[in-house]
Amino acid sequence: MIDAQTKLYGVMGNPVHHSLSPAIHNRAFRQLGWNAVYLAFEVNDLGEALRGIRGLGVRGVSVTIPFKTEVVPLLDKVEGLARKIGAVNTIVNRGGKLIGYNTDRDGALEALEEKMNLRGKKIVLVGAGGAARAIGFGLKERDCHLVVINRSKKKGEGLSKELRCQYLPLFSLAKMKAGELEADVIINATSVGMYPRDGETPIPKGLLKKGMMVMDIVYQPLRTKLLREAKQRGCVTVNGLEMLMRQAAAQFEIWTGRRLEIGQIRKALLRTLGEKPTKTHLAGLKKGKG
Ligand code: ATR
Repeated sequence: MIDAQTKLYGVMGNPVHHSLSPAIHNRAFRQLGWNAVYLAFEVNDLGEALRGIRGLGVRGVSVTIPFKTEVVPLLDKVEGLARKIGAVNTIVNRGGKLIGYNTDRDGALEALEEKMNLRGKKIVLVGAGGAARAIGFGLKERDCHLVVINRSKKKGEGLSKELRCQYLPLFSLAKMKAGELEADVIINATSVGMYPRDGETPIPKGLLKKGMMVMDIVYQPLRTKLLREAKQRGCVTVNGLEMLMRQAAAQFEIWTGRRLEIGQIRKALLRTLGEKPTKTHLAGLKKGKG
């Protein structure tokens, strides 16, 4: 029941109407019996949106593409990890002061480490925005050998300098021969392949090799072109729900102090997406794993 006591939360992004974050957080509020709602805000002017959050007393906000880095200097305080990464995906409103956090790093790394020990692995990271920064810093802490690939040279080179690793322009992949891209893990941390441009992929199919692990942060569609082609080539795949659920659970904990069960979120999201849980999903649930 929405009434005069209802607390407001939300996600700011653009585009954002495909987001599954409202499904995750509203379900969690309902389960806990909290009088709160979570809405999706398609934002054009970030400064105006932040003024609205302060002015209206919105309690907490998720930040998504394309605002994760842009929001950092506009907040009243940025917690240590988010400051180091230079990206915020979670905002808490404490009495009109907006405080930024980052739960993307742990969300992504937990999703990858469910399937592989990452220490010392060779990783190709596509993207140089907020999500890529969070994942890149996490991988660096595990002594991974990183290559950053990005469309814009400025952002790509900037991130590769901070991570002390190689940079390659995105267009160079199209010129590579089959098998030329060396990697244990390939991660798409861009919006390439996201609905409605779901016929696109950042990695040409010929570069995918059996035994590689391929993760996509895009979850609409769940089976992106990249993941479909990776499966066809015999790669291990990690879909975009895995990072989404984990970063959301961590931000829900920051807002409410309550920990969500990943297996339950997955089951509910797959139902929302009209997907039947596969054997692998169910095995994860049985083990109580995320
Ligand atoms: P966020 O902070 O939420 O990650 P972002 O900073 O806008 O969002 O970053 C989006 C990432 O997706 C960037 O790496 C962007 O590449 P550019 O630096 O060249 O902008 C990448 N990206 C988005 N759309 C793309 C497209 N159509 N082709 C290639 N890369 C794209």
